[in-house]
Amino acid sequence: MPLNTIAKAVGSPCFIYSTATLTRHFQVFEQPLKAAGTDHIICYAMKANSSLGVLDLLVKQGSGFDIVSGGELFRALRAGADPRKIVYSGVGKLPHEIQAALNANILMFNVESADELERIQDVAEDMGRVAPIALRVNPDIDPKTHPYISTGLYESKFGIDIRDAPALFQRAKALSHVDVVGVDCHIGSQITKMKPFLDALARIKSLVQDLQADGFNIRYLDVGGGLGIPYHNEEPPSPSDYTQAIVERTRDLDCTLIFEPGRVIAGNAGVLLTQVQYLKQNREKRFVIVDTGMHHLIRPTLYHAYQAVQAVNPREGAPMVADLVGPICESGDYLAKDRELPPVQQGDLLAIMSSGAYGYSMASFYNSYARPAEVLVQGDQYAVIRERDHYEDIVKGERLPQFS
Ligand code: LLP
Repeated sequence: MPLNTIAKAVGSPCFIYSTATLTRHFQVFEQPLKAAGTDHIICYAMKANSSLGVLDLLVKQGSGFDIVSGGELFRALRAGADPRKIVYSGVGKLPHEIQAALNANILMFNVESADELERIQDVAEDMGRVAPIALRVNPDIDPKTHPYISTGLYESKFGIDIRDAPALFQRAKALSHVDVVGVDCHIGSQITKMKPFLDALARIKSLVQDLQADGFNIRYLDVGGGLGIPYHNEEPPSPSDYTQAIVERTRDLDCTLIFEPGRVIAGNAGVLLTQVQYLKQNREKRFVIVDTGMHHLIRPTLYHAYQAVQAVNPREGAPMVADLVGPICESGDYLAKDRELPPVQQGDLLAIMSSGAYGYSMASFYNSYARPAEVLVQGDQYAVIRERDHYEDIVKGERLPQFS
């Protein structure tokens, strides 16, 4: 499906996702686990891309979901997810969100603090329900990734310090309306080496063994997500090497393994299509100004992330070094900095690669720009799975105060 065709019909900018790639990425995780005969659930971390069209596709592949809010629960259920394959992570669960998750009968809550444990107990007790929980344990491992996406160090807000975990498990055991069913750990994102995963796993495994010896019925081991992808020249472990290494080390635990991959499923299944509006040259620098930016893809701005840029219709000529920037009134609004870009002219289409994860899901209305359309391609067909916003969407729900 030529991007030109989609650009002509749908307009620019738009996110475009591939059914074939999404399916393949799910299956490269799923198949080795199946072949090894491992009890497992893949709970796609839907924060990466939670558009209903993408969730629907993954539901059909048999995926479960890692959710982090009531809104994500709503989306997952709307997409027809099996609640018995939903795990609920996040440090700030609200009472009404806990209630909704209990009503939906999700598989388990990944509890991130002592206070949260007490709140889940209270909400469950009020409802006359028992909440299945895991504690998310922080193993103090440095995943060697961007500090904003490192979560497994003691200094981070996530999880429960592994040194405090045994006592909190004891506390959970004493509570009337929670049932301890698992142990969970997620150390960060865009991790490109196996070592941090294995170091964390070794610590978590010994905790699971201690708990089991202590009479806890730990049935689920949630190893989180975080497997990195090639954006540029990274060489992360393949999903099958990654899953195999984990399976080998956990076989004796008699636990169902839960994986929470996000980026590795969606990241390289999507591009952000954009059109060149202006070429600008000042004394210091050259800029290519396009019709998208940090409001649609904030990763370069927020993490100094590298995302490749390709011309949809390549031209002859030498590459040019420039900043690829958007229309937003911020100096930090860029998609590529001092990058060797393909030669372009006004009106040309560019594809910002690896934009399927943490693109649209982090997009905003900043500067009152409409968010882009989203398109799903399957073979020689495409479907608009989300319309571009209309100006009315930008002001939706706003009203003028009626002060007397
Ligand atoms: N599980 C939990 C509890 C998480 O917090 C995350 C991601 C995942 C799973 C999925 O991680 P993944 O497999 O996608 O690496 N916006 C950032 C990434 C933030 C990740 C947040 N948590 C970015 O664009 O790089």
